[in-house]
Amino acid sequence: MILLSGKQIAEQINRHTELLCRAFSERFSSKPCLAVILVGENPSGRTYVNTKRKLCDLIGIESRLYEFDSSVTQKQLTDKVKSLNEDRCVDGILVQLPLPSHADESAVIDVIDPGKDVDGFTPQNMGKLLLGGGRLISCTPKGILRLLDAYDIPVQSKSVCVIGRSNIVGKPVAALLLQKDRNATVMICHSFTDDVSRYTEKADIVIVAAGCPGLVTGNMIKEGSVVIDVGITRIPDSTKKSGFRLAGDVDFDSAVRKCSAITPVPGGVGPMTVAMLMENTVIAACARRGITDCEELLH
Ligand code: GUN
Repeated sequence: MILLSGKQIAEQINRHTELLCRAFSERFSSKPCLAVILVGENPSGRTYVNTKRKLCDLIGIESRLYEFDSSVTQKQLTDKVKSLNEDRCVDGILVQLPLPSHADESAVIDVIDPGKDVDGFTPQNMGKLLLGGGRLISCTPKGILRLLDAYDIPVQSKSVCVIGRSNIVGKPVAALLLQKDRNATVMICHSFTDDVSRYTEKADIVIVAAGCPGLVTGNMIKEGSVVIDVGITRIPDSTKKSGFRLAGDVDFDSAVRKCSAITPVPGGVGPMTVAMLMENTVIAACARRGITDCEELLH
């Protein structure tokens, strides 16, 4: 059984991104710059943003934080995004999701300049991904495929069951796996699927991104399958200093006895997502300066 350490692989990727950032700064006399918009007081949103900004600092990316009260209007948010689109110093724009319920997320995302859309969430970048191309690919799906690659886990001709149909994970990871260079057979389950185990038990790889702690248990999966757990839910736990523990969508203890490889929570997919955000920021910064392959910076 292999524990798929996203933490370890992400560290390797981040070290390389740091090299790219150093070369970028030498060439252009400025660091790649990521603008982050955070709305309201969602504790996990704030934690994610802090993690992303700390890593920016370590790697050599300038990060700017724009915070808004949860009462912010739709127009104030779209105006901010538009001004960041125009700001020549800003290479990447990230709007931390979810937004408060009164804000229309897709309307805010729609105004992000696709060239600065480091989350790959705009209709243009999602569309390109579906068509089999595109430079800026959503971070969690991209991170999952990089993690599988790093452990030499093939997806070609494998049956993959994706649980969850979100725009952030489920849909784009299914689209990536389906592409001609990946060639997986993809099943997508969601909250209206009748008997999810009918699909999971046939799958060579199960990717769970449902936000339901413990949804997938060992008896639902095939012997020797690979399990990727994208879930990360805060569960109140008075024995922890923070007051909570993090729970994945997979019941680790039962799944680990049956699978051939599994991601831990935390330390699995999460660090890969953040590493891909850093990489995408450098990709966007390079593309804005006419460099289509960041590796060119090292020549
Ligand atoms: N909320 C949960 N995951 C993500 C992500 O990958 N990007 C953004 N912007 N918000 C998120």
